[in-house]
Amino acid sequence: MVDTNDEWILSRTGIRERRILKEPGKATSDMATEAVKGLLKKTGTDVSEIELLIVATTTPDMQFPATANIVCDKLGTNHIMSYDIGAACSGFLFALTTASKFIESGTIKKAVVVGADKMSSIIDYTDRTTCVIFGDGAGAVLLEATNEETGVLDAILKSDGSGRHFLHQKAGGSLQPATHETVDNKLHSVYQEGKTVFKFAVTNMANAAEEIMKRNNLTSEDVAWLVPHQANKRIIDATADRMGLSPEKVMVNIERFGNTTAATIPLCLWEWENKLKKDDNIVLAAFGGGFTWGATYVKWSYNS
Ligand SMILES: CC(C)(COP(=O)(O)OP(=O)(O)OC[C@H]1O[C@@H](n2cnc3c(N)ncnc32)[C@H](O)[C@@H]1OP(=O)(O)O)[C@@H](O)C(=O)NCCC(=O)NCCS
Repeated sequence: MVDTNDEWILSRTGIRERRILKEPGKATSDMATEAVKGLLKKTGTDVSEIELLIVATTTPDMQFPATANIVCDKLGTNHIMSYDIGAACSGFLFALTTASKFIESGTIKKAVVVGADKMSSIIDYTDRTTCVIFGDGAGAVLLEATNEETGVLDAILKSDGSGRHFLHQKAGGSLQPATHETVDNKLHSVYQEGKTVFKFAVTNMANAAEEIMKRNNLTSEDVAWLVPHQANKRIIDATADRMGLSPEKVMVNIERFGNTTAATIPLCLWEWENKLKKDDNIVLAAFGGGFTWGATYVKWSYNS
């Protein structure tokens, strides 16, 4: 489709394969619903126990209603609190913190947080600077109230709207509603200035990860795992280096999934879950469009 090659893609990004949702009529909510169904089954949770469901996504099924509402409907639950969070590739971290605050405040007991994106729906497959990077995916986690000192213990979440110029979708919103012209000019696809995004991502993701370690008195020995957003293997390596972590402590699956935006972090947790132990100190770190970025300190709650 474009002038590229495997060697360029692998050496610049670390990506070998991506998953694409091709079935007509299927959207982000379908992947999200599958993820939540698997989660509920695995944890023995009845859908009626869920009081809050948040979907972090940049590719909602439609502008409105929220994809979270559609997911709830597909799961057969309603009259609960459900909404989307849009913070691009950092969306899962923003959603995780929001849900954990509802639990900490005693408002609710159980929440599901989903990261899901059908990036293929907003990728221009003639643009080699973006089409080799992004993939489709969904992952979900269950949060529940506990008296133990485990779960989401701290989070640093930041945004800088002046970065919007370097990574965005030009049309389809209220600024430039869809017209024949916007479609002809391919303004509904991801626009990215890769080099600038790369520099901001390396600096901010590593800074946030280092800061969260410092303010929680965590040394590199104390950290069992880094769960980084899977944007580019070089960005992941730079963050791990700054934290002083060896590669065995870093979850990396970008090679098989590419950048699935809000789904990368829960997809890593899903793949590595059987290696996680109770009280493991885990740092989640992300960077994304907006710009948005952050790091979250999680103490794992159970032996898998
Ligand atoms: C997009 C990205 C992989 C590009 O890598 P890079 O090392 O910055 O590469 P550059 O953009 O400098 O391009 C280098 C050359 O490769 C070319 N190139 C770009 N895409 C290519 C592709 N898919 N295949 C082959 N060549 C390509 C460029 O045209 C350029 O050629 P030139 O030197 O003749 O002008 C990298 O910038 C990146 O990962 N950025 C961050 C993206 C990101 O994380 N986004 C999501 C944030 S959540």
